[in-house]
Amino acid sequence: MSYPYVLLSAAVSLDGYLDDTGPERLLLSSPADFDRVDAVRASVDAILIGAGTIRADNPRLLVNSAERRAARVREGRPEYPLKVTVTATGDLDPGAKFWHTGGDKLVYTTDKGAERATHRLGGAVDVVPLGSDLDWRALLSHLHDVRGVRRLMVEGGGTVHTQLLRQGLADELQLVVAPLFVGDPAAPRLFGPGGYQPGRLRLTEARRIEDVVLMRYEPTAPGTGPFPAAADRHWLRTACELAALCPPSPTAFSVGAVVVAADGTELARAHSREGDDPVVHAEEAALAKIDPADPRLPAATVYSSLEPCARRASRPAPCSELILRAGVRRVVTAWQEPDTFVAGADGRGILVKGGAEVVVLPEYEDQAKAPNRHLLG
Ligand SMILES: NC(=O)c1ccc[n+]([C@@H]2O[C@H](COP(=O)([O-])OP(=O)(O)OC[C@H]3O[C@@H](n4cnc5c(N)ncnc54)[C@H](OP(=O)(O)O)[C@@H]3O)[C@@H](O)[C@H]2O)c1
Repeated sequence: MSYPYVLLSAAVSLDGYLDDTGPERLLLSSPADFDRVDAVRASVDAILIGAGTIRADNPRLLVNSAERRAARVREGRPEYPLKVTVTATGDLDPGAKFWHTGGDKLVYTTDKGAERATHRLGGAVDVVPLGSDLDWRALLSHLHDVRGVRRLMVEGGGTVHTQLLRQGLADELQLVVAPLFVGDPAAPRLFGPGGYQPGRLRLTEARRIEDVVLMRYEPTAPGTGPFPAAADRHWLRTACELAALCPPSPTAFSVGAVVVAADGTELARAHSREGDDPVVHAEEAALAKIDPADPRLPAATVYSSLEPCARRASRPAPCSELILRAGVRRVVTAWQEPDTFVAGADGRGILVKGGAEVVVLPEYEDQAKAPNRHLLG
């Protein structure tokens, strides 16, 4: 399953509220920040909001700058990003500005909600039922595969943001903190209670914009089991970047590997032939940097740009075996080992037989292959 890059965008008060309970929308951002948001909108393929925000704010959700819209058209993109909403009830006001401004609109809902939404909107809008419940992975996959969306901006509200973050589906959070208090417990909060991924997010930027502060965060906690989380993509990309650092060899692949604890702490990273060892493999070198008694290993994930090896001549144990011996039970990789040096290598098979989950993210295959082009003909 491939998903778009998911960017959550929100502004909050100092006490963490998205809005107050008054009839008008509370303006939290500053003028320059509204313009920044406009630029982000212009950069994406689609913008999603929950039906609650349509009902509360009646937003138009447009790219306001004519220059930015013209630039989109010059680049061969639609003038406005696709507008997307989610609803279970299908209770959508056909008079809302959302439907009468901008470009294409799309509603994701349940089978039951679809009847009501179609009835209310009169068939003029694309309504996609996703079963008895709305599954966010199915929604993202549909947006990617059917609507060609590669970058999705999510502009709330809190119910939507909370689900995407808790399910590990947000690639990035762009959070603006405004210097005011709401102080009303009945007002909507950005993030609701519940089980979030463990650990700390990575702060990638902090910027003052007039009197507000923009903070950008990336989740770091790996997914669990077969389900890829957004952080899995970030770490696999890091592994691919490490592969590019390998001294090239005519007789071995260039591979990068990272070992990450369940809370997103990086335990070790390495690449093939690093240091003074001309035959060391990336996963082997990374695991060698970790105390074998480290209690975080059983819940850790190994990211490797190439499937861990199944057989090798240069060392007694292949990397798939070393991973199992280290107690790691989850591996994320981009590329299945070709027959270049070992025919029918099946590191994945060894890992699965040993009880490990192997997740393949083929969207990184090209990046994993790039430092190995000379071996691939
Ligand atoms: N400050 C900011 O940056 C910002 C941004 C956006 C919004 N807001 C504020 O946030 C408030 C609205 O937030 P909110 O949390 O109440 O609403 P919301 O997240 O915009 O929408 C919630 C609604 O979306 C639908 N929905 C969400 N998850 C779903 C799922 N898994 N399956 C099916 N439908 C689903 C449901 O619609 P149905 O009820 O139709 O089933 C649900 O009631 C407003 O006060 C608004 O001003 C602030």
